[in-house]
Amino acid sequence: MVVGGFFGDEGKGRVVAYLALRRNIRLAIRCGAINAGHTVVYGGRTWRLRSVPSAFVNPSVELGIAAGGLVKVDVLYKEIEETGCAGRLCVDERAGVIEEEHALRERSSDYLAKTVGSTLQGVGEAMVDRVRRVLRLARDVPELKSYLCDLSGIANEYLDEGHEVLIEGTQGTFLSLYHGTYPYVTSRDTTASAFLSEVGVGPKRVGDVIVVFKSYVTRVGAGPLRGEMSFEEAARLGWAEYGTVTGRPRRVAPFDFELARRAVVLNSATAAAITKVDALFPEVRGLRDPSKLPRRVKDWVEQVESVLKVPVLMLGTGEEVEDAVYLGEEE
Ligand code: IMP
Repeated sequence: MVVGGFFGDEGKGRVVAYLALRRNIRLAIRCGAINAGHTVVYGGRTWRLRSVPSAFVNPSVELGIAAGGLVKVDVLYKEIEETGCAGRLCVDERAGVIEEEHALRERSSDYLAKTVGSTLQGVGEAMVDRVRRVLRLARDVPELKSYLCDLSGIANEYLDEGHEVLIEGTQGTFLSLYHGTYPYVTSRDTTASAFLSEVGVGPKRVGDVIVVFKSYVTRVGAGPLRGEMSFEEAARLGWAEYGTVTGRPRRVAPFDFELARRAVVLNSATAAAITKVDALFPEVRGLRDPSKLPRRVKDWVEQVESVLKVPVLMLGTGEEVEDAVYLGEEE
Protein backbone atom coordinates (compact mmCIF):
# COMPACT_ATOMS: atom_id res chain seq x y z
CA MET A 1 0.00 0.00 0.00
CA VAL A 2 1.12 3.53 -0.71
CA VAL A 3 -0.44 6.35 1.30
CA GLY A 4 0.20 10.07 1.75
CA GLY A 5 1.83 11.23 4.99
CA PHE A 6 0.99 14.94 5.04
CA PHE A 7 -1.82 16.86 3.25
CA GLY A 8 -1.74 15.23 -0.18
CA ASP A 9 0.54 16.19 -3.07
CA GLU A 10 3.45 14.32 -1.53
CA GLY A 11 4.18 12.63 -4.85
CA LYS A 12 2.35 9.33 -4.39
CA GLY A 13 1.85 9.07 -8.15
CA ARG A 14 5.55 9.01 -8.88
CA VAL A 15 6.27 6.59 -6.02
CA VAL A 16 3.56 4.19 -7.21
CA ALA A 17 4.82 4.42 -10.80
CA TYR A 18 8.39 3.75 -9.66
CA LEU A 19 7.35 0.70 -7.63
CA ALA A 20 5.25 -0.56 -10.53
CA LEU A 21 8.29 -0.47 -12.79
CA ARG A 22 10.61 -1.98 -10.22
CA ARG A 23 8.57 -4.67 -8.52
CA ASN A 24 6.61 -7.56 -9.87
CA ILE A 25 3.10 -6.24 -9.36
CA ARG A 26 0.14 -8.09 -10.83
CA LEU A 27 -2.62 -5.62 -10.02
CA ALA A 28 -2.65 -1.96 -8.94
CA ILE A 29 -5.78 -0.41 -7.49
CA ARG A 30 -6.63 3.28 -7.25
CA CYS A 31 -8.76 4.42 -4.32
CA GLY A 32 -10.38 7.78 -3.62
CA ALA A 33 -11.83 10.06 -6.23
CA ILE A 34 -11.20 12.81 -8.76
CA ASN A 35 -10.36 15.54 -6.24
CA ALA A 36 -6.94 13.92 -5.95
CA GLY A 37 -4.55 14.45 -8.84
CA HIS A 38 -1.53 12.18 -9.18
CA THR A 39 1.23 13.40 -11.44
CA VAL A 40 3.44 10.98 -13.33
CA VAL A 41 6.35 12.09 -15.53
CA TYR A 42 7.68 9.19 -17.54
CA GLY A 43 9.58 8.96 -20.80
CA GLY A 44 9.41 12.75 -21.17
CA ARG A 45 5.60 12.83 -20.91
CA THR A 46 3.47 14.18 -18.07
CA TRP A 47 0.16 12.67 -16.97
CA ARG A 48 -2.10 14.22 -14.35
CA LEU A 49 -4.30 11.36 -13.24
CA ARG A 50 -7.48 11.69 -11.24
CA SER A 51 -8.80 8.16 -11.75
CA VAL A 52 -6.47 5.75 -13.53
CA PRO A 53 -3.82 4.17 -11.24
CA SER A 54 -0.33 5.64 -11.61
CA ALA A 55 1.03 2.10 -12.05
CA PHE A 56 -0.22 2.24 -15.67
CA VAL A 57 3.36 3.08 -16.73
CA ASN A 58 4.17 -0.62 -16.56
CA PRO A 59 2.12 -2.24 -19.35
CA SER A 60 2.15 -5.64 -17.65
CA VAL A 61 0.30 -4.39 -14.55
CA GLU A 62 -3.48 -4.87 -14.44
CA LEU A 63 -5.36 -1.83 -13.17
CA GLY A 64 -8.48 -1.38 -11.09
CA ILE A 65 -10.66 1.21 -9.39
CA ALA A 66 -11.81 0.34 -5.88
CA ALA A 67 -15.38 -0.24 -4.71
CA GLY A 68 -14.97 2.60 -2.23
CA GLY A 69 -13.69 4.91 -4.94
CA LEU A 70 -15.77 7.28 -7.04
CA VAL A 71 -15.48 7.76 -10.79
CA LYS A 72 -16.76 10.45 -13.09
CA VAL A 73 -17.43 8.98 -16.49
CA ASP A 74 -15.96 11.80 -18.62
CA VAL A 75 -12.80 12.05 -16.49
CA LEU A 76 -12.29 8.29 -16.56
CA TYR A 77 -12.79 8.02 -20.33
CA LYS A 78 -10.35 10.85 -20.99
CA GLU A 79 -7.67 9.21 -18.86
CA ILE A 80 -8.23 5.76 -20.33
CA GLU A 81 -7.59 7.32 -23.71
CA GLU A 82 -4.55 9.31 -22.58
CA THR A 83 -2.93 6.32 -20.93
CA GLY A 84 -4.09 3.74 -23.49
CA CYS A 85 -5.04 1.34 -20.69
CA ALA A 86 -8.52 0.28 -21.90
CA GLY A 87 -7.60 -3.39 -22.25
CA ARG A 88 -6.28 -3.81 -18.71
CA LEU A 89 -8.45 -1.58 -16.53
CA CYS A 90 -11.53 -2.57 -14.62
CA VAL A 91 -13.85 -0.71 -12.29
CA ASP A 92 -15.35 -2.48 -9.31
CA GLU A 93 -19.06 -2.69 -10.02
CA ARG A 94 -19.68 -1.18 -6.57
CA ALA A 95 -17.63 1.97 -7.18
CA GLY A 96 -19.66 5.17 -6.88
CA VAL A 97 -20.40 7.57 -9.73
CA ILE A 98 -20.04 11.36 -9.51
CA GLU A 99 -22.50 13.36 -11.59
CA GLU A 100 -22.38 17.02 -12.75
CA GLU A 101 -25.07 17.72 -10.19
CA HIS A 102 -22.68 16.88 -7.33
CA ALA A 103 -20.18 19.49 -8.46
CA LEU A 104 -22.98 22.02 -8.92
CA ARG A 105 -24.15 21.42 -5.38
CA GLU A 106 -20.62 21.92 -4.04
CA ARG A 107 -20.11 25.07 -6.05
CA SER A 108 -23.18 26.58 -4.47
CA SER A 109 -21.80 26.08 -0.97
CA ASP A 110 -19.96 29.07 0.45
CA TYR A 111 -18.87 26.96 3.40
CA LEU A 112 -17.07 24.42 1.20
CA ALA A 113 -15.56 27.02 -1.11
CA LYS A 114 -14.46 29.62 1.42
CA THR A 115 -14.10 27.88 4.77
CA VAL A 116 -12.92 24.39 3.85
CA GLY A 117 -11.29 25.33 0.57
CA SER A 118 -12.72 22.28 -1.19
CA THR A 119 -11.64 21.38 -4.72
CA LEU A 120 -15.40 21.51 -5.57
CA GLN A 121 -15.24 18.43 -7.78
CA GLY A 122 -18.47 17.01 -6.34
CA VAL A 123 -16.75 14.28 -4.35
CA GLY A 124 -18.17 15.17 -0.93
CA GLU A 125 -21.70 15.56 -2.31
CA ALA A 126 -21.45 12.18 -4.03
CA MET A 127 -20.37 10.71 -0.68
CA VAL A 128 -23.42 12.34 0.91
CA ASP A 129 -25.63 10.64 -1.68
CA ARG A 130 -23.90 7.36 -1.06
CA VAL A 131 -24.61 7.57 2.64
CA ARG A 132 -28.21 8.45 1.79
CA ARG A 133 -28.17 5.39 -0.49
CA VAL A 134 -29.29 7.24 -3.58
CA LEU A 135 -25.95 7.37 -5.44
CA ARG A 136 -25.64 5.52 -8.74
CA LEU A 137 -22.93 2.88 -8.73
CA ALA A 138 -20.72 1.86 -11.62
CA ARG A 139 -22.98 -1.14 -12.28
CA ASP A 140 -25.90 1.24 -12.95
CA VAL A 141 -24.09 3.17 -15.69
CA PRO A 142 -24.30 1.72 -19.23
CA GLU A 143 -21.10 3.54 -20.39
CA LEU A 144 -19.09 1.62 -17.79
CA LYS A 145 -20.48 -1.81 -18.62
CA SER A 146 -17.44 -3.09 -20.49
CA TYR A 147 -15.15 -2.13 -17.59
CA LEU A 148 -17.05 -3.67 -14.68
CA CYS A 149 -15.52 -6.35 -12.47
CA ASP A 150 -15.59 -7.81 -8.97
CA LEU A 151 -12.30 -6.17 -8.06
CA SER A 152 -12.19 -7.22 -4.41
CA GLY A 153 -12.74 -10.81 -5.56
CA ILE A 154 -9.93 -10.55 -8.08
CA ALA A 155 -7.54 -8.86 -5.61
CA ASN A 156 -8.11 -11.53 -2.95
CA GLU A 157 -7.68 -14.29 -5.51
CA TYR A 158 -4.37 -12.85 -6.73
CA LEU A 159 -3.17 -12.58 -3.14
CA ASP A 160 -4.17 -16.22 -2.54
CA GLU A 161 -2.06 -17.16 -5.56
CA GLY A 162 0.95 -15.28 -4.16
CA HIS A 163 0.86 -12.30 -6.51
CA GLU A 164 1.65 -8.75 -5.44
CA VAL A 165 -1.21 -6.27 -5.36
CA LEU A 166 -0.51 -2.58 -4.94
CA ILE A 167 -3.07 -0.25 -3.40
CA GLU A 168 -2.69 3.42 -4.32
CA GLY A 169 -4.15 5.64 -1.60
CA THR A 170 -5.08 9.23 -2.23
CA GLN A 171 -4.61 12.59 -0.55
CA GLY A 172 -2.78 12.63 2.77
CA THR A 173 -3.18 11.38 6.32
CA PHE A 174 -4.04 14.83 7.71
CA LEU A 175 -6.82 15.38 5.19
CA SER A 176 -8.55 12.34 6.70
CA LEU A 177 -12.15 12.87 7.72
CA TYR A 178 -11.35 11.09 11.01
CA HIS A 179 -7.67 11.67 11.73
CA GLY A 180 -7.06 14.96 9.96
CA THR A 181 -7.49 18.62 10.84
CA TYR A 182 -11.31 18.55 10.84
CA PRO A 183 -13.24 20.39 9.45
CA TYR A 184 -10.44 21.28 7.01
CA VAL A 185 -10.38 17.79 5.55
CA THR A 186 -11.69 15.75 2.66
CA SER A 187 -14.83 13.60 2.65
CA ARG A 188 -13.23 10.22 3.41
CA ASP A 189 -10.70 8.63 5.72
CA THR A 190 -7.32 8.71 3.99
CA THR A 191 -5.32 6.32 6.14
CA ALA A 192 -4.17 2.83 5.14
CA SER A 193 -7.01 1.07 6.96
CA ALA A 194 -9.59 3.05 4.99
CA PHE A 195 -8.02 2.21 1.65
CA LEU A 196 -8.04 -1.48 2.51
CA SER A 197 -11.73 -1.18 3.21
CA GLU A 198 -12.26 0.70 -0.06
CA VAL A 199 -10.69 -2.19 -1.96
CA GLY A 200 -12.26 -4.99 0.06
CA VAL A 201 -9.11 -6.69 1.32
CA GLY A 202 -8.63 -7.46 5.03
CA PRO A 203 -5.82 -6.11 7.26
CA LYS A 204 -4.08 -9.45 7.68
CA ARG A 205 -3.19 -9.49 3.99
CA VAL A 206 -1.04 -6.37 4.06
CA GLY A 207 2.71 -6.74 3.59
CA ASP A 208 4.13 -3.25 3.24
CA VAL A 209 2.61 0.12 3.99
CA ILE A 210 4.74 2.83 2.44
CA VAL A 211 3.95 6.32 3.62
CA VAL A 212 5.02 9.08 1.26
CA PHE A 213 6.38 12.42 2.43
CA LYS A 214 7.73 15.33 0.48
CA SER A 215 10.93 17.01 1.71
CA TYR A 216 8.75 19.98 2.71
CA VAL A 217 5.04 20.22 3.50
CA THR A 218 2.35 21.73 1.28
CA ARG A 219 -1.37 22.11 1.68
CA VAL A 220 -4.07 23.51 -0.60
CA GLY A 221 -7.20 24.90 0.98
CA ALA A 222 -7.72 26.01 4.55
CA GLY A 223 -6.61 24.54 7.88
CA PRO A 224 -3.61 24.59 10.19
CA LEU A 225 -0.11 24.36 8.74
CA ARG A 226 2.67 24.57 11.28
CA GLY A 227 5.68 26.63 10.22
CA GLU A 228 3.86 28.10 7.22
CA MET A 229 6.01 30.53 5.22
CA SER A 230 5.07 33.20 2.70
CA PHE A 231 4.66 32.12 -0.91
CA GLU A 232 7.57 34.47 -1.79
CA GLU A 233 9.82 32.66 0.70
CA ALA A 234 8.69 29.30 -0.71
CA ALA A 235 9.45 30.51 -4.24
CA ARG A 236 12.91 31.61 -3.13
CA LEU A 237 13.59 28.11 -1.81
CA GLY A 238 12.23 26.52 -4.99
CA TRP A 239 9.24 25.10 -3.09
CA ALA A 240 6.45 27.03 -4.85
CA GLU A 241 3.77 24.71 -6.25
CA TYR A 242 0.30 24.86 -7.76
CA GLY A 243 -2.50 22.32 -7.23
CA THR A 244 -2.84 19.54 -9.84
CA VAL A 245 -6.63 19.69 -9.92
CA THR A 246 -7.40 23.30 -9.00
CA GLY A 247 -4.27 25.19 -10.11
CA ARG A 248 -4.30 27.05 -6.77
CA PRO A 249 -0.95 28.02 -5.23
CA ARG A 250 -0.10 25.59 -2.44
CA ARG A 251 0.70 26.76 1.06
CA VAL A 252 4.19 25.74 2.14
CA ALA A 253 6.02 24.79 5.37
CA PRO A 254 9.27 22.96 6.17
CA PHE A 255 9.33 19.17 6.72
CA ASP A 256 7.43 18.46 9.94
CA PHE A 257 9.02 15.57 11.85
CA GLU A 258 6.30 15.37 14.49
CA LEU A 259 3.52 15.20 11.93
CA ALA A 260 5.46 12.63 9.92
CA ARG A 261 5.90 10.40 12.96
CA ARG A 262 2.18 10.64 13.66
CA ALA A 263 1.44 9.60 10.07
CA VAL A 264 3.69 6.56 10.48
CA VAL A 265 1.73 5.56 13.57
CA LEU A 266 -1.73 6.18 12.09
CA ASN A 267 -0.90 4.08 9.02
CA SER A 268 1.26 1.49 10.79
CA ALA A 269 3.74 2.24 8.04
CA THR A 270 6.55 -0.22 7.42
CA ALA A 271 8.63 2.22 5.38
CA ALA A 272 8.73 5.81 4.16
CA ALA A 273 9.41 7.28 0.74
CA ILE A 274 10.57 10.89 0.48
CA THR A 275 10.04 12.87 -2.69
CA LYS A 276 11.62 16.09 -3.94
CA VAL A 277 14.78 15.54 -1.97
CA ASP A 278 16.49 17.60 -4.69
CA ALA A 279 14.44 20.60 -3.52
CA LEU A 280 16.19 20.36 -0.15
CA PHE A 281 19.58 19.21 -1.46
CA PRO A 282 20.05 20.47 -5.04
CA GLU A 283 23.24 18.40 -5.44
CA VAL A 284 21.19 15.17 -5.68
CA ARG A 285 19.13 16.35 -8.65
CA GLY A 286 18.62 13.42 -11.02
CA LEU A 287 20.74 11.09 -8.87
CA ARG A 288 19.88 7.37 -9.13
CA ASP A 289 22.93 5.65 -7.69
CA PRO A 290 22.67 5.14 -3.89
CA SER A 291 26.46 4.86 -3.55
CA LYS A 292 26.77 8.50 -4.72
CA LEU A 293 24.50 9.91 -2.03
CA PRO A 294 26.33 12.84 -0.35
CA ARG A 295 27.14 12.58 3.35
CA ARG A 296 24.85 15.43 4.42
CA VAL A 297 21.89 13.83 2.62
CA LYS A 298 22.64 10.49 4.27
CA ASP A 299 22.74 12.28 7.63
CA TRP A 300 19.35 13.82 6.97
CA VAL A 301 17.86 10.48 5.95
CA GLU A 302 19.26 8.93 9.14
CA GLN A 303 17.71 11.71 11.17
CA VAL A 304 14.35 11.06 9.48
CA GLU A 305 14.63 7.33 10.14
CA SER A 306 15.48 7.84 13.79
CA VAL A 307 12.46 10.09 14.37
CA LEU A 308 10.02 8.11 12.21
CA LYS A 309 11.28 4.71 13.42
CA VAL A 310 10.86 3.18 9.97
CA PRO A 311 13.39 2.79 7.16
CA VAL A 312 13.38 5.17 4.19
CA LEU A 313 12.84 3.04 1.11
CA MET A 314 13.43 5.57 -1.64
CA LEU A 315 14.23 9.20 -2.33
CA GLY A 316 12.80 11.15 -5.25
CA THR A 317 15.50 13.26 -6.94
CA GLY A 318 13.72 14.67 -10.00
CA GLU A 319 10.42 14.82 -11.85
CA GLU A 320 10.94 11.70 -13.95
CA VAL A 321 9.63 8.53 -12.32
CA GLU A 322 13.05 6.92 -12.60
CA ASP A 323 14.85 9.87 -10.98
CA ALA A 324 15.02 8.13 -7.63
CA VAL A 325 17.51 6.55 -5.25
CA TYR A 326 16.36 3.16 -3.99
CA LEU A 327 17.56 2.47 -0.46
CA GLY A 328 15.68 -0.78 0.17
CA GLU A 329 17.06 -4.25 -0.33
CA GLU A 330 17.38 -5.48 -3.89
CA GLU A 331 14.55 -7.86 -4.77
P1 IMP B 1 -12.57 18.27 -1.16
O1 IMP B 1 -12.18 16.90 -0.78
O2 IMP B 1 -12.42 18.54 -2.62
O3 IMP B 1 -13.92 18.69 -0.66
O4 IMP B 1 -11.55 19.27 -0.43
C1 IMP B 1 -11.43 19.30 0.99
C2 IMP B 1 -10.02 19.69 1.39
O5 IMP B 1 -9.12 18.65 0.99
C3 IMP B 1 -9.50 20.97 0.71
O6 IMP B 1 -8.59 21.60 1.59
C4 IMP B 1 -8.75 20.43 -0.51
O7 IMP B 1 -7.78 21.31 -0.98
C5 IMP B 1 -8.15 19.16 0.07
N1 IMP B 1 -7.89 18.12 -0.93
C6 IMP B 1 -8.77 17.25 -1.46
N2 IMP B 1 -8.14 16.43 -2.31
C7 IMP B 1 -6.84 16.77 -2.30
C8 IMP B 1 -5.69 16.28 -2.96
O8 IMP B 1 -5.69 15.32 -3.71
N3 IMP B 1 -4.52 16.91 -2.69
C9 IMP B 1 -4.46 17.95 -1.85
N4 IMP B 1 -5.50 18.44 -1.21
C10 IMP B 1 -6.69 17.86 -1.43
